[in-house]
Amino acid sequence: MKQKLIGKNAIVTGASSGIGRATALALAKQGANVALIARNEARLNAVADEVRALGVQAEVLLADIRDGQQLKAAVDGAIERFGTIHICHCNAGIYLRCPAAELTQEQLRGMMENNFFGNLSTAYAILPHFRAQGGGHLIVTVSMDGKKGVPPDAAYVATKFALNGFFQVMRQELRREGIHVGMIFPSRTDTPQIAHVACPKITPKASPDKMANAVVKCIVRNKREMLVPYLPCKLLVLADAISPRLGDWMVRAFKLDGVQTGEPVV
Ligand SMILES: NC(=O)c1ccc[n+]([C@@H]2O[C@H](COP(=O)([O-])OP(=O)(O)OC[C@H]3O[C@@H](n4cnc5c(N)ncnc54)[C@H](OP(=O)(O)O)[C@@H]3O)[C@@H](O)[C@H]2O)c1
Repeated sequence: MKQKLIGKNAIVTGASSGIGRATALALAKQGANVALIARNEARLNAVADEVRALGVQAEVLLADIRDGQQLKAAVDGAIERFGTIHICHCNAGIYLRCPAAELTQEQLRGMMENNFFGNLSTAYAILPHFRAQGGGHLIVTVSMDGKKGVPPDAAYVATKFALNGFFQVMRQELRREGIHVGMIFPSRTDTPQIAHVACPKITPKASPDKMANAVVKCIVRNKREMLVPYLPCKLLVLADAISPRLGDWMVRAFKLDGVQTGEPVV
């Protein structure tokens, strides 16, 4: 099969695990070199070895996305290493499961700091480079929780709705500059982030590889949004648009909130 991203260079944040790791490997399989950003050096090095085994280059760059300076240094490091960056996948994120009424201000701000401002910092770090070269793919992992709020994820949902709104605007503003902004809306995915949440058979967790393939498709086809898996996610979005009562009913009927079966592992 023909590789679609030969000669391209990519940055992936949250590349040490789950969807980020799968995306790094999917991009590498398509011929792209990948700069891997996260905090866990050992895990990043392991992913880098897997990427290099696919015949492309990998660079490990440590950064906490909440620290703008660390992040800028990492993105600048990737640009220096590869000369140019064509793809930046803002993917890093954390999950918090807690009923809205029990959330503390500290938890809420912490979630926004990580999932919203952290990913914005990534976008702002790469934007001058994309503008200077007149193009690039800015891909953001949102979540279906950024389309329809599902209990007990209020804090997480707020960060994802914020990302959805912000990058929708960015997408329209940057289009004329040749910068493609694409958003990925995964449903529940089988990664360490939700290892403590069981999902019913009717809406099982999807594989991280499915999300990674959606990222590749989003880039190659300049897609604005990828709902994954498409049909059930689209039905939920449409139902909720027609009637929020119907949307809420679907959440209950399909048990989209899942069941907590243990303590969070990350
Ligand atoms: N799993 C799902 O059901 C699901 C569904 C929809 C959307 N998503 C989204 O998909 C993205 C990836 O999540 P995942 O499911 O793959 O979870 P995961 O396996 O726990 O991976 C999360 C990644 O984000 C990184 N990360 C988190 N906070 C960071 C920070 N402050 N600085 C740097 N890196 C940070 C982690 O790296 P280090 O710990 O090494 O720093 C890790 O590589 C997230 O945005 C998540 O919200 C997940």
